[in-house]
Amino acid sequence: MARYRIGRILTSCCLLSIVILAASCHRTSSAPAKPLSSFDAQVRQWVAKMTLDEKVGQMTQAELSGLKEMSDIETYFIGSILSGGSSDPKEGNSLEAWTNTYDNCQKHALKTRLKIPLLYGIDGVHGHNNVIGAVVFPHNVGLGCTRNPELIKEISRITALEIRATGINWTFAPCITVPQDERWGRTYEGFSEDPILVSELGQAAVEGLQGTDLSNPVTVLACAKHYVGDGGTAYGSAQKPNSKSLLDQGDTRIDEATLRRIHLYPYPASIAAGVGSIMPSYNSWNGSKCSGNKYLLTDVLKTELGFDGFLISDYNAIDQITKDYKTAIMISINAGMDMGMVPNSYREYIKCLKELVQEGKIPMSRIDDAVTRILRVKAAMGLLDKNASVLADRTLHQDFGSLKHRQVARQAVRESLVLLKNQGKTLPLSKTAARIHIAGKNADDIGNQCGGWTIDWQGKSGAITTGGTTILAAIRKTVSANTQITFSKDGIGANGATLGIVVIGETPYAEMEGDRSDLALDVEDVQAVAEMKKAGIPVVVVLLSGRPMIINSVLEQADAFVAAWLPGTEGQGVADVLFGDYKPTGKLSYTWPRSMDQIPINVGDKNYDPLFPYGFGLTY
Ligand code: BGC
Ligand code: BGC
Repeated sequence: MARYRIGRILTSCCLLSIVILAASCHRTSSAPAKPLSSFDAQVRQWVAKMTLDEKVGQMTQAELSGLKEMSDIETYFIGSILSGGSSDPKEGNSLEAWTNTYDNCQKHALKTRLKIPLLYGIDGVHGHNNVIGAVVFPHNVGLGCTRNPELIKEISRITALEIRATGINWTFAPCITVPQDERWGRTYEGFSEDPILVSELGQAAVEGLQGTDLSNPVTVLACAKHYVGDGGTAYGSAQKPNSKSLLDQGDTRIDEATLRRIHLYPYPASIAAGVGSIMPSYNSWNGSKCSGNKYLLTDVLKTELGFDGFLISDYNAIDQITKDYKTAIMISINAGMDMGMVPNSYREYIKCLKELVQEGKIPMSRIDDAVTRILRVKAAMGLLDKNASVLADRTLHQDFGSLKHRQVARQAVRESLVLLKNQGKTLPLSKTAARIHIAGKNADDIGNQCGGWTIDWQGKSGAITTGGTTILAAIRKTVSANTQITFSKDGIGANGATLGIVVIGETPYAEMEGDRSDLALDVEDVQAVAEMKKAGIPVVVVLLSGRPMIINSVLEQADAFVAAWLPGTEGQGVADVLFGDYKPTGKLSYTWPRSMDQIPINVGDKNYDPLFPYGFGLTY
């Protein structure tokens, strides 16, 4: 707790947050991660013997698919590689291929003079979600509704284990954004609209991913993102030509007190938990790009909050600071960026960065500070030790996607469901009903159930290669042998059934593609529910979505209504709640609006009159 200066924060927050902050710091005291700066003596010796080329290389992150030659890793002394959302190994997307790719990259790094191993980063944001066979957990929007930090810690521990099974040692998670407007396509990446809940669950995620000792071979380096204000952009402020973005990467137009009270709020708890890296955001704050903002990166984050890990830029985010690339690099590094995520442009970035130092436009002291911060983390991970084991530990393959891991995901699904309506005690359903008709486009679609950042960057509908159990398959396993299950996407044919279940909602999207001006349900969803009602049977509606949607007419028709978010591969957790094996406990972590013109709407607003308030959730 002493690792950030609480006093400074307190003076700049309102009285309410003082109480809140005190409450959320309570858990912090139980996480005694060794301060990164305790590795400084060791790190100083490394920095002292490094050439400028070697230093600049450490400050560079290229993308696997962007590498012109694999040998560029040693030629340019590259310190880090990433695989972005769709950057799979050439050999395919299997556990084996990923592990080989990781090892291969490290072998190149070990050919350099100093043999400093790579940090290999990936977006393991709901499990090791890029890899075939990994367990895929619910997205953060669902986890927020569990209100269960211990569970989030356990999920993160398992995620770390599955990531390490491929050797990979860094995940760009947790996302501790505080989304204020659900038209934003990244809403599901945030635990809640409420900074206090985000702070608590973000801290739990860091603790689970990193453990208390980063040199433990089953932990990964975490990355809190996106700093700061990513969830507060003004609607329509993302002026990117040829882009669907309405809010994504836009401008957060709020005063500093509000920025601190909402968006900065979760960072101190993650820092106190020892998070080793933080990702500055694409968005701007009152017109100034975060990725080039010295006040935010250096004065607030590093000096005031005492963050002693390193900053990794977002994907090509440096390019957005200003038109001239070299100037953009100068602004960003001088503002406090320590490592550039420069997927394809790494050669150009390295050239410019070196020139800027030689021309005196970036002081050597800044370079040394950046390298020190990066090497502190590598030292804490044991990567600078003489006999560091750098290659993947393949004995971890045995637990990859295991039943044990899936059971935790199933529990997370159960706890994330929010029961919004249960008229006439429709739920729990009987497992011995004569016939149940299932409908809806999301009932038997593992891709839709997992959402974005699953196998592919944007996700995909249909039988994506991830495996897992769809909700339809799960219901089949749950009911008695005498119960007949019939299925039609459009709901036609429900006549004569005892009851109906319709699974509707969104189809996958991620950043840039997921912004929407209208959150109405698809016409086919509304029709499927209407079709089922025509059969005169009780109808349970299950909504799969990355955010609250405008559901009024369907809600009226439904006898029971469950918000199931983006549950991931373990559809069995949904069936467990529908059929009474597990009572619903989830509570909304976002306010549920009545209509589009209420948005943005958040708990604490004046004249707050939502369809369902923050914290709502029935049980039976
Ligand atoms: C996203 C980040 C992600 C990074 C690497 C960016 O476009 O904003 O959340 O970590 O790509 O894939
Ligand atoms: C990558 C993502 C990245 C995005 C940003 C995609 O091609 O796969 O990881 O976030 O580009 O533009």
